[in-house]
Amino acid sequence: MKHIAIVGPGAIGGTLTAWLSRNSEHDITVAARSTFASLTLQLPDGSLITAQPRILTEPNSAAPADWVLVTTKAYDVIGTSQWLKRLVGPRTRVAIIQNGVEHVERFAPYVAVEQLLPVMIDLPAERQAPGRIRQRGAGRMIVPESPHAAEFVQLFAHTPLTVTPDADFKTQVWKKLCVNSAGALSAMLLKPAMIARHDGVAEIMRAIVRECVAVGRAEGARLDDSMAEQVVNGYRSAPPDSVNSLHADRAAGRPMETDARNGVIVRLGRKHGIATPINQMIVALLEAAGPT
Ligand SMILES: NC(=O)c1ccc[n+]([C@@H]2O[C@H](COP(=O)([O-])OP(=O)(O)OC[C@H]3O[C@@H](n4cnc5c(N)ncnc54)[C@H](OP(=O)(O)O)[C@@H]3O)[C@@H](O)[C@H]2O)c1
Repeated sequence: MKHIAIVGPGAIGGTLTAWLSRNSEHDITVAARSTFASLTLQLPDGSLITAQPRILTEPNSAAPADWVLVTTKAYDVIGTSQWLKRLVGPRTRVAIIQNGVEHVERFAPYVAVEQLLPVMIDLPAERQAPGRIRQRGAGRMIVPESPHAAEFVQLFAHTPLTVTPDADFKTQVWKKLCVNSAGALSAMLLKPAMIARHDGVAEIMRAIVRECVAVGRAEGARLDDSMAEQVVNGYRSAPPDSVNSLHADRAAGRPMETDARNGVIVRLGRKHGIATPINQMIVALLEAAGPT
């Protein structure tokens, strides 16, 4: 029996909770900010999975788990850290399942680095209400080859979600950042993926991605010169009405993961002496446009 705690039962946390709950060998605790009675996950084919995990809303009521899966947004580190104080013991492993390239740096002030496992996730999902999640497509996760990777793979062995250890995890997260950084233009314009079909917008996307590639290479990622073109082609071939999460968050008046998706390019660019004027402008404008 493995005790697994999921912190942040939103789109990703709720989907993972529902799938993990299907294994009776798992004892599941959900650490929530907004409570709910039970969890319902709607699958891409319309069928439903329901789960009744233990739901806590007060960090002081939590006890150390074998695994903690952090699925809050990248900007909710402080609130998440209150849970980690209670959920993490000396033998707990903590998987950080978030976007960006700074999974470990974000949580190193709160958890020993040897206990952390960064996870890259591709899983289209949205939260319709607390405890009601819709999974829109297949899900996959990539983790670095590390001592905790094999056990993390086992946690999901009974699910259709794939987990793949990768010796070059850094390149994987920077490739995803190339895609996500360009999505900031949708958030700025409040228009879906089809904006990439506008030639001028596509040219700005390429400039965002070229800055990301330059900084990522300085950080040690192996990124091809064709990345900018690949990203534009990806947005152009996506369903024209696809809304990325930065866009959805801005449209709903919620905080945005601007720092994790574009600010990081500016900050790490500065460290390496690489100019990133386009990302710098995007960060300033989105900060000014977002909730105060
Ligand atoms: N959704 C996707 O399709 C997708 C795909 C790939 C990657 N990602 C990444 O995965 C991460 C999670 O995204 P998401 O879409 O799942 O976000 P989300 O739907 O906004 O879920 C975040 C959850 O964290 C909860 N939370 C915030 N502070 C908390 C606290 N102090 N204690 C307990 N729970 C707390 C929120 O609670 P409330 O209910 O109170 O707001 C919410 O349930 C992000 O880094 C995102 O970029 C998402």
